[in-house]
Order: sequence, then structure tokens, then C-alpha cells
Amino acid sequence: MAQLDIAEVRSRFSALGDDFVYLDAPGGTQTPDEISAAMARVNQEASGNLGAPYGTSHRIESLVEQARDATAGFLGCDPDEIIFGANMTSLNFTLSRTLARNLSAGDEILVTRLDHDANVAPWLDLADDLGLTVKHVDVHDDTTLDLADLRGKLTARTKVVAFPWAANSVGTIVDASAVCELAHEAGALAWIDAVQYAPHEPMDVTAIGADVLLCSAYKFCGPHLGICYGRRSLLESWRPYKARPVPMQPVGHRFETGTMPYELLGALVASYDYLDSIGGFDAVRDWERQLAERLLAGLPPAIRLYGLRGTAGRVPTFLVNAPGVPSSWLSEELAGRGFGVWSHDSYYALGLHERIGWGEALRIGLAHYNTLDEIDRFNQALAELVAGYQNGHAPAADAAAAGHR
Ligand SMILES: Cc1ncc(COP(=O)(O)O)c(C=O)c1O
Repeated sequence: MAQLDIAEVRSRFSALGDDFVYLDAPGGTQTPDEISAAMARVNQEASGNLGAPYGTSHRIESLVEQARDATAGFLGCDPDEIIFGANMTSLNFTLSRTLARNLSAGDEILVTRLDHDANVAPWLDLADDLGLTVKHVDVHDDTTLDLADLRGKLTARTKVVAFPWAANSVGTIVDASAVCELAHEAGALAWIDAVQYAPHEPMDVTAIGADVLLCSAYKFCGPHLGICYGRRSLLESWRPYKARPVPMQPVGHRFETGTMPYELLGALVASYDYLDSIGGFDAVRDWERQLAERLLAGLPPAIRLYGLRGTAGRVPTFLVNAPGVPSSWLSEELAGRGFGVWSHDSYYALGLHERIGWGEALRIGLAHYNTLDEIDRFNQALAELVAGYQNGHAPAADAAAAGHR
């Protein structure tokens, strides 16, 4: 199996050249220098638009084709089933509205308590506009999806089952094939938010039976660009929101509004090349598991972990807090010591936040460019800060706690 050469990986990132430790991957990853070089190259060599009879335009045409081909390889589909857009959220609002041209009052949509709001709000808005019903599928106490609850909520009126492949809050993975199968048995579409799965695991949309799947390249060391797969026959059945002269082929293109960010497509191709060059997801997964095990083994005893206890069934995203210690204070203190870790309440996972009730928590999100030494230093800093606060040795603590209530 391919082994990740962590020193070689890190040498490709100027951003990792100082001592700052990025443990914030679910919010967005650092990018290797070759991504910005690819972006600059497009600006230098192919700044123009499609459809002109000279070199710049031809280069853009081949770049778009390359981006579709490479993304199809990344997702396991045909190149023309790819739709590029500004980000996952914008694509999801647009495409759910497009599908909704075929929905009517009384139709039902399932979303889950594991979802990021970008895969919930579009359906709630549509429900308001069209008189649809949105049902929320529950989770078990360990944050795994409750498939029995899902099964029980499916009816003959269910049109879409929207779910995340991995949760951005607690990292829990959903059995995507099983949910797709349940959705299809009920005659519904399987609509997958893969934003947090894509940086950690290989994907095959055809094998799992996805109808629609969305992800975002800035979560896997690429540019700020949204990506969508739509099953060809489904896309062909939709009426796109488009300027009339826009070509209808390839089928994904009819859903891409306006001129695409070609420099970002260049960067996207470079990000797939980067992932392949470091050993692909075999290497990424193996290294991230080692990092996650190290983190879990060294978390201070005072830390409370939400969700699954071990590394199985999850991506390496961990939600934690220390009872009695404001996580916003921890986050600021950690930042001061050179550790980038977020503190937030819901992390936009409103359903899970309501269900589990963690208040505000730290999210420790690992990426393949982290090192074991970084994890050890982080655990040590966290232990010192928590102990310091609990022993009353934190000068800023009282003020932070007061501001927090
Ligand atoms: C699981 C999940 N879905 C959707 C989104 C929204 O993605 P974007 O920023 O591309 O709109 C995020 C962003 O963090 C996310 O974590």
C-alpha cells in the first residue's frame, strides 16, 4: 500500500512553513503551492472565454474538458454528469430549485439531524414556497444515523432523501449505499452532501447509487469551487435555469450559470494531481488513522468527546469540550499558542446541536498534512490550558466566561 511521505508532503506547502498547527480542516484546508501556480498559469495562458477561434479560447476549452474528466475520475461517473458552481451551498440551492419544478404541494423531503444546514435550508425554503413537507431523520445517541427512523419516515410521497456522507460536526460517517437503497425502494432520490467525506475517503457515486452528490474542493486542498454529480437521466429530465443560448451539452453544463472560474478549474485539476502524487486515498486514510489514534490516545482526561469514541465509522473530525471551561476561551488561547482550532455552537449542524446539546465546543479537524508531533503538542497544550483554567490560573478566563453566558 502507498505510504504517505509526510516531510515531502509538507515541503509542498508554503503555508505549513512556520510552526502554526492547522487542526481546522473541516473549515477549509491549506493548499500546496502547485494549486496557486496552476491558477496563475491559467491567468497567464488562457485568460479569455469559450468559443473564439484562437489559442486562448482553445486552451480554455481543453481545460474545461480536463476538469470534467479529472472530476469524473475523482467521483466515479461520466464527465458530462459534472456540474461546477460557486460552492456547495449555491449549487444545492440552485439544483434543489431546479428539481422542484417537478414537485408539488404535499410532496415530502427527508433530511437528517447529521446534516450541515447547506443540505437542509434549501429544502425548508422550498417547503415554504411550495407546500412540501420536510421530515428530520433522527440519530442514535452515539450520533450514527437511525436507519429504522429513516425507513419509518419514507412514504409514497417522499421525493428526496438528503443526507451527509460524513458529518461536519462530529465526523460520523453514514452508510451511503444503504441510504441510497432505502431511498430508491421508496421511489425517492438520494441527494448526498459529501463535503466532509471527500477529503478523507475515495468516492464512487455509481457504486453507491447516488442520484445527486455535492462536494467542495477547498476541503481537499483545492480551490474555492463547488462540484456536483448528477445522474445523467435525472439531469436530462430537469428544465435548467439558464440563459437561452447556453448549449445543452454536455448535460451538466446546462446547469452551470454564466462564465466559469477557469483559473479555479486549473487549480482543481492540480489538486487531483496532488492527491494522486502523495499516494491517493490509501495513503491519506492510513496516515489520518494514525493521527486520529494518537489524538484520541492523548486527549486530556477532562475532555469530553461527542459522537463515536474511536476511529471506526468516522472521518478524523472530533468535537470536544471540557466541562466548565468555555471552548471559545480555549480556542483563543490555543490560537495564541499556535494551534488553529475552532470553537462554535452548532457548526451549522442545527439538528444535531439541538439533539445532543453540546453548547459550544472545539472542533479538532485533522488533515493528511498534520504530523504526530503536532498532535502531541496540541494535546499537551490543551491539557495545560484546561488544568490551568480549572485551577484558576487563567487570567483571561473569568472575562471570557462572563462574555460567554
Ligand atoms: C458538510 C458540509 N456541507 C456543506 C457545506 C457548505 O459548503 P460550501 O462552503 O462549499 O458552500 C459545508 C461547509 O463547511 C459542510 O461542512
